[in-house]
Amino acid sequence: MAPYIHGHHASVLRSHEWRTVENSCPHLLPYLTNPSLKILDVGCGPGTITTDLASRVPEGFVYAIDPSAEVIKKARKHAADKGVTNVRFEVGDIFHWQELEGVEEGEFDVVHAHQVLQHLQDPVGAMKEMKRIAKPGGIIAVRDADYSAMNWYPEVPGMREWLDLYIALAKRINCDPNIGKRLHAVAMEAGCDRGNIEASVGTWTFSTPEERAFWCGLWADRTLQSNFKASALESGYATEEDLHKIVEAWKAMEKKQDGWFAVIHGQIICHVEDRS
Ligand SMILES: C[S@@+](CC[C@H](N)C(=O)[O-])C[C@H]1O[C@@H](n2cnc3c(N)ncnc32)[C@H](O)[C@@H]1O
Repeated sequence: MAPYIHGHHASVLRSHEWRTVENSCPHLLPYLTNPSLKILDVGCGPGTITTDLASRVPEGFVYAIDPSAEVIKKARKHAADKGVTNVRFEVGDIFHWQELEGVEEGEFDVVHAHQVLQHLQDPVGAMKEMKRIAKPGGIIAVRDADYSAMNWYPEVPGMREWLDLYIALAKRINCDPNIGKRLHAVAMEAGCDRGNIEASVGTWTFSTPEERAFWCGLWADRTLQSNFKASALESGYATEEDLHKIVEAWKAMEKKQDGWFAVIHGQIICHVEDRS
């Protein structure tokens, strides 16, 4: 399994815990009209999207997995704090789902993964497993960033260096930080017919002072406090000095009154064919 590049430091979880179905699964929203859906959330992280999904299917059920025991604990607490009970969080890996009690082949109406395939060395293999778990007639919903398409204004010294460094570090561990643009191709390689795939684009924009403080602030912290620092230094791709310049770039971006940062995601809905 690829090491999860960001790790689960508080500065990383600040981004994950902000996520909701509305801001992170717009492609899935039209399919959540049936309150009895059974959903599998793959790579759920601290589970804010998962718990939101569960609250939208009150007569259904969400099963969520993540290899990190630490985030699964947080996810269980988040659901409990929200009073959401139709959800189960288990430590688990998409490549070993057969080891999970209660997960059977062809069982889930929706198999969902948000920003997970970009962290896997074998995204096609993961998509094949997700296809096996989905019910015939069900859907697979996947959304991932395309780092190469991230954009910002104004140009701030150090931001390009941040982006180049992040992309190089992800590629170094054989992951594709730009996978968002080819999720439909990954699904096709995993055996989904092109005619059964809806491909679209979803974005996050950080521009108001509050949005910039949130996004730029968490990246400034991540750069020196999360696993990002260790991988950058260990790879030899950056020095401590380079990392401090990147932090300054994020702080400068936060202060820009006309600052604007766009995160571009590719997103797909793959309709699973009846196998009979
Ligand atoms: C960027 S986080 C996304 C978390 C959550 N889906 C969200 O958007 O808030 C990626 C998550 O994928 C998990 N992950 C990594 N490899 C995995 C695997 N083989 N199977 C399932 N999850 C995995 C990581 O532990 C991490 O929590």
